[in-house]
Amino acid sequence: MYTFVTGGTGRVGSAVVDELLGNDHTVLALARSDASARTLDKAGAVPLRGDLTDLDVLRAGAAQADGVIHLAFANDFTSPDAIARAVAEESAALAVLGEALAGSDRPLVIVSGTPAVPGRASTETDPLPTDGPVGGRSRAVMAVLDLASRGVRSSAVRLPRTVHSDGDGGFAGMLTDIARRTGVSGYPGDGTQRWPAVHALDAAVLFRLALEQAPAGTSWHAVADDGDEVRDIAAVIGRRLNVPVEARPQEAFGPLGPIFATDQPSSSTHTRQALGWTPAQPSLLKDLENIQP
Ligand SMILES: NC(=O)c1ccc[n+]([C@@H]2O[C@H](COP(=O)([O-])OP(=O)(O)OC[C@H]3O[C@@H](n4cnc5c(N)ncnc54)[C@H](OP(=O)(O)O)[C@@H]3O)[C@@H](O)[C@H]2O)c1
Repeated sequence: MYTFVTGGTGRVGSAVVDELLGNDHTVLALARSDASARTLDKAGAVPLRGDLTDLDVLRAGAAQADGVIHLAFANDFTSPDAIARAVAEESAALAVLGEALAGSDRPLVIVSGTPAVPGRASTETDPLPTDGPVGGRSRAVMAVLDLASRGVRSSAVRLPRTVHSDGDGGFAGMLTDIARRTGVSGYPGDGTQRWPAVHALDAAVLFRLALEQAPAGTSWHAVADDGDEVRDIAAVIGRRLNVPVEARPQEAFGPLGPIFATDQPSSSTHTRQALGWTPAQPSLLKDLENIQP
C-alpha cells in the first residue's frame, strides 16, 4: 500500500514508518525541514516537503496515496496559547486530509488519546473528553470518525499518556525532564493515580493494523500497560537520576497539571482481540531503567 504519513520523524511516527516499510508498504512522508527530509529519505520513505499549514501539500499527498496515517503535532505544552495554536493547526490539517479522501473508501488513521473514566480502566467505546486544554483535539478526531458516512475508512488509534522508547517519551519523559531541571523527581497528588503506557514499536504495529484492517469509524487502544502508579514511575526516575522523590503540587506541572493528576488507567482487550495486536516490547517501568543520569 502507498501510504502518506505525517509526523514520520517523531518518536511514534519514525517507528510507524519503519513498521510500514518492513511490511510491504511504501511511504510518502511529510517533511517540514531539510533535516527531516534527510531522515525520512535515509529510512527509505519518499519525503514530501511541507508542514501542517501547507494545506495544498497535504491535499496532494493524500490524493496520490492509498491511505493516510496522521501523527504530526506541535507538542508545545508551554502555555495555553501554544496548545490552542497546535490544536487549531492540526484540526485544519485533518479537515483537508478527510476531504481529500471523501468518497474513496481509503483509510485515514489518526492519532488520539485514551480517555479517563473515574474508577475503572477506559475502553475503546468510552467517549473522548471535549473539555480541558486539548479538548479541541477530541472534536477534530470525532469529525474524522464521522467521515465514515462519507466514504472514508477513518479510524483513531488512541495512545496512552506515555509512548516510550529508550527510557524517554510522553508524560513519563516530561517527569524526567522536570526532575533533571529541578533536582527533584516530583509527582502530583499522592502519586497513586495510574497512567497507561505503550512502547513506540508496539504502537507502530497497531497503526499498521488499523491502516490495513480497521472498519470505518472505529477507535482502538494502543495500551500495553493498563496503568502504572505515577509514584512508581517517579521512583524509577529518581533512582536513575539520583535525585529525591517527592509529592509536588499539581500547579508545578504547568497547563497539563490537571491531566497529570488524573487517575486514567486504560484497557486494550477489545483491540487485542479484534485486530490481533500483541504488544511485545518492554513495559514502561523496565524501559525507564534506560534513563542515563
Ligand atoms: N509520545 C507520547 O507519549 C504521546 C502520547 C499520546 C499522544 N501522542 C501523539 O502522538 C503523535 C506523535 O507523537 P510523538 O511523540 O511521535 O511526537 P514527536 O516526537 O514530538 O514528533 C512530532 C512529529 O510531528 C512533526 N511536526 C510537528 N509539527 C509539525 C508541523 N507544523 N508540520 C509538519 N510536521 C510537524 C514533527 O516533525 P519534525 O521532526 O520535523 O519536527 C515530528 O515528525 C502526536 O500527535 C502526539 O500528540 C504522543
